[in-house]
Amino acid sequence: MAEKPWNGRFSQKTEGIVESFTSSINVDKRLYAQDIAGSIAHCRMLAKTSIITEEESSRLVKGLLKIKKDIESGRFKYNDSLEDIHMHIESRLAADIGKAALKLHTARSRNDQVALDIRMYMREESLEIIDGLIDLRKILLSLAGNHTGTIMAGYTHLQKAQPVLFAHHLMAYYEMFSRDTDRMRDCQKRINVMPLGSAALAGTTYPIDRKYTAGLLDFPKVSANSIDSVSDRDFIIEFLASASICMVHFSRLSEELVIWSSYEFNYIELPDAFATGSSIMPQKKNPDIPELVRGKTGRVFGALFALLAIMKSLPLSYNRDMQEDKEPVFDAIDTLKACIGIYIKMLPNLKINKDVMLKGASSGYLNATDMADYLVTKGMAFRDAHACTGKAVRYAIGEKKELHELTLEEMRLFSSLFSSDIYDVLTPASMIERRKSSGGTATENVLRAIKKAKRDIGKECQKKASK
Ligand code: ARG
Repeated sequence: MAEKPWNGRFSQKTEGIVESFTSSINVDKRLYAQDIAGSIAHCRMLAKTSIITEEESSRLVKGLLKIKKDIESGRFKYNDSLEDIHMHIESRLAADIGKAALKLHTARSRNDQVALDIRMYMREESLEIIDGLIDLRKILLSLAGNHTGTIMAGYTHLQKAQPVLFAHHLMAYYEMFSRDTDRMRDCQKRINVMPLGSAALAGTTYPIDRKYTAGLLDFPKVSANSIDSVSDRDFIIEFLASASICMVHFSRLSEELVIWSSYEFNYIELPDAFATGSSIMPQKKNPDIPELVRGKTGRVFGALFALLAIMKSLPLSYNRDMQEDKEPVFDAIDTLKACIGIYIKMLPNLKINKDVMLKGASSGYLNATDMADYLVTKGMAFRDAHACTGKAVRYAIGEKKELHELTLEEMRLFSSLFSSDIYDVLTPASMIERRKSSGGTATENVLRAIKKAKRDIGKECQKKASK
């Protein structure tokens, strides 16, 4: 059992069961690189402000870099009695370099240390998520570009409503994932604030230079209030809320892929490499991948609720409850990244059954609104036109015909305003082309939207490269 740093104050040894209960090493060992980078910056600052000597600082830095190597090569030994990654590294440093190690924790507490580590970790991960979302949006754009001539039924209430371009439908997801990218970027502003130097809660008596440490660690800002710095996990909650919204979008797309790949719809076929079979029914090809993405959405929501529940009503400042923040956030990050990765690979390989989609848009009275609009152009008020077309639909259902299959005489049973130009209005293509209102599905609008999105994405990529 390792010596505890607080042994001076204690007369009893920690119970074994308490050691495993309080230990978080299995979870927070992920933060080793951030912990070491933070400690190195802290050492340099301590030397710069003459709180320790340059010689002590360089011994500490060397020792820390050696520990990093050992962790990365798998030589580092973990042990529950050392609780967390911070104590593991510090105690190993003492074993390696002796007395100089005892100075590392000057003007620092694990409270500000852990806040720093998780912020550094999340800023790296959220950048990766942003990059992944940009790649996903590029894939959606190129798929939309290939389908500006593909017509499908648009739905409300999962009932056929009006025809739309498949590209327009895909661009709806492009918009959702663009907002997700923006939200992730916005979170970064709050993540990217340096808490170190807040010490346990009240700041420190040493003449530290927080701005210097922040510069070394590439933080644009230092936190303003030491109590808030060790208590704040808003940035995690905000990140998880953004991740949850993004997963809502993935779950909706997944649900559509599940429905569309069903025998009944047959709008798409999933690539064999992204589907699974059944162990008993030889004919089956199951959409397990989108189903799992849909299911994993629950894990990310769970992480958000966990953080909200952990933080609710905690008195200021640090409380040990907050150690429970890491497992959910790590899991949410892994899950979101995995879903982005899967979709980037799966989407370009979908087989789109254009003919089936077009057929779906050509029956089921999707042209009823356009028949009513036609009557309006001939002078009828919209409410009257709606009622009149409703009667025509009822009649057509009885005759087992579509609206465009009614003869002119049959249509004139409902209004004398119908003439032969009605048939041009009722085709899926003309219904699409006439929806030119801004944001509507007309081909020229969709092409313009794709062009604009390509420009926007190009700018985002440039920004990324120049960063
Ligand atoms: N493992 C702890 C955590 O994740 C580090 C901070 C411990 N601080 C303390 N005062 N016990 O929150």
